[in-house]
Amino acid sequence: MNRIPNHPILDEEKPGKEVQIFVDGKPIMAREGEMIAAALIANGIYINRYTAHKHKPRGIYCAIGRCTDCIMTVDDVPNVRTCVTQVKEGMRITTQHGMGVWSEEGRND
Ligand code: FES
Repeated sequence: MNRIPNHPILDEEKPGKEVQIFVDGKPIMAREGEMIAAALIANGIYINRYTAHKHKPRGIYCAIGRCTDCIMTVDDVPNVRTCVTQVKEGMRITTQHGMGVWSEEGRND
């Protein structure tokens, strides 16, 4: 796992509860409450999406919710900024292609 156990500014890591999430159907372990992007990097996953026109891979860029390079489909909702969205047990995350696709399960109305 790629984690920083003792950060010079943030101090010593206080790991949360281990939970299982699914990335493109594959189960991985994450820490409840950490950002999805952090869990992905800790598991060696660096590509979050592919661009709409040229199908270029994108991953973390700003890491503060501004650039949208980290967007993925989370629990059937496309365009979720994974750098500012917390992990929850059982989340289903998929690599997003282009603008993403809405499904009936992801609707909130
Ligand atoms: S990395 Fe820029 S919004 Fe997430």
